[in-house]
Amino acid sequence: MHGVRRGVLITFEGVEGSGKTTQAKFLVDWLIARKIPHIFIHEPGSTKIGEAIRSILLNAENKVMHHKCEVLLFLAARSQLTYEKIIPALQQKKVVVADRFSDSTYAYQVYGRDLPPRLISVFNRFATAGIKPDLTFLFDLDIAEGRARGVFDDRMETVGKTYHQKVRRGYLKVAHRAKKRIKILNGEKPVDDLKCEIVDNTKAFLIGKGYKL
Ligand SMILES: Nc1ncnc2c1ncn2[C@@H]1O[C@H](COP(=O)(O)OP(=O)(O)OP(=O)(O)O)[C@@H](O)[C@H]1O
Ligand SMILES: [Mg+2]
Repeated sequence: MHGVRRGVLITFEGVEGSGKTTQAKFLVDWLIARKIPHIFIHEPGSTKIGEAIRSILLNAENKVMHHKCEVLLFLAARSQLTYEKIIPALQQKKVVVADRFSDSTYAYQVYGRDLPPRLISVFNRFATAGIKPDLTFLFDLDIAEGRARGVFDDRMETVGKTYHQKVRRGYLKVAHRAKKRIKILNGEKPVDDLKCEIVDNTKAFLIGKGYKL
């Protein structure tokens, strides 16, 4: 912790079933083993208000939800999470591990739903107080392969295949524009190989930020 000025935000992104939660949990185990102070959060949710918003967003019965309402609800949940959990953790010099964050909005709402990028970017900055991830792992995986890994039946997951293909392409566009921050990982690789890549990248990143490991 010596030399660390503020905590860091590490995010996990990718389409459904691509391995985000599996790998985020491995990273949390790695931080625990090294006694590195951290918090683990997921989006939408991780606060009482955020979980209530999550249940509205993911309820498959809410088919009438307008795309504008959808993006604003995601951002409302993110805003609560930012002020209630992320900012205090960063101030306490903790590592924040987030299962989804802002890049999801660009992939799912801007690219996926064709919402205006500049406006959404302003709203996102407003919601997050301008906090950006410091390091992002993006799991790139064929939509069908991700789906074959589990049951996907919530409101977002049941939108058609074409939508999810747009989301996948959207993620890659976002990553292309932020090459330094976003590490694209091949989601087809075995769990243990991905785990090694994530630990190696995180280790190098944290050392660069002044963490003694
Ligand atoms: N690299 C991998 N290869 C094969 N199976 C995997 C891999 N990573 C995760 N899985 C399995 O795929 C399923 C989905 O993984 P996980 O829940 O981590 O994905 P996710 O990206 O968090 O999905 P969601 O978007 O639904 O939250 C789990 O059953 C998990 O064990
Ligand atoms: Mg998950």
